[in-house]
Amino acid sequence: MYIDSMTKYRPQTLSEFVYPNEETKELVEAYASGEMKSSLILHGASGCGKSLLQELIPNAIENSNANLQRVLCADIQTAKDVHELYGKNKKFDNLFKDNDHFNYIIIEEFLITNQKISDAFKIELDKRNGVDLTIISTNYFDKVDKGIVSRSIELELIACEPKKFFPHAKRIFDSEGVHIDYSVLMNCLEVTYTLNQDNRKYYRAIDKLLRKH
Ligand SMILES: Nc1ncnc2c1ncn2[C@@H]1O[C@H](COP(=O)(O)OP(=O)(O)O)[C@@H](O)[C@H]1O
Ligand SMILES: [Mg+2]
Repeated sequence: MYIDSMTKYRPQTLSEFVYPNEETKELVEAYASGEMKSSLILHGASGCGKSLLQELIPNAIENSNANLQRVLCADIQTAKDVHELYGKNKKFDNLFKDNDHFNYIIIEEFLITNQKISDAFKIELDKRNGVDLTIISTNYFDKVDKGIVSRSIELELIACEPKKFFPHAKRIFDSEGVHIDYSVLMNCLEVTYTLNQDNRKYYRAIDKLLRKH
């Protein structure tokens, strides 16, 4: 049987997110409570849940599907684009965001080499602090402007160790009604982790195992 477990079992809320460690859990939960107002920079290797958290954290704060203003960093080409990104939100909150805690600016694949654009971000982060919550994801944390880093909280995401991912994997098999020897499943996760430290690979390995059963 063919199944895309990564899509089918994509965590819908933070309660389904697999935390790689306690430190990550504590910080994410602090954001989810709505108490943290500084921009958040999620960084680290591919497939570790950065984009996923960019969606699940706002949903947790709002306790429902939050209205996200989601942009790919490559689409921001001038300082004006940055001001418009934040400015657009002002109209937005007048229209229908009265009850929300924040306007959410979600920037994917953050990589900015132009100083004027970085400066525009710093201005907006100062101006809109507490009103907008900016959540950035990037594979290039070392290239992020120091002033942006200084205004933000950073969180490095890493792949989950096999034993951390195991309960989620087991749940997939149980939900599919497929019986598997759990030691075979654990072994499969361990081999996968040795080859690539990327949560996406676990799902691919699970799909393969499901096909065999
Ligand atoms: N910690 C995690 N817990 C549960 N699922 C995860 C986790 N990290 C990644 N995934 C799964 O892998 C997919 C890819 O994750 P994504 O957030 O796009 O990674 P990144 O943005 O870090 O490259 C997600 O849709 C999700 O199904
Ligand atoms: Mg991503």
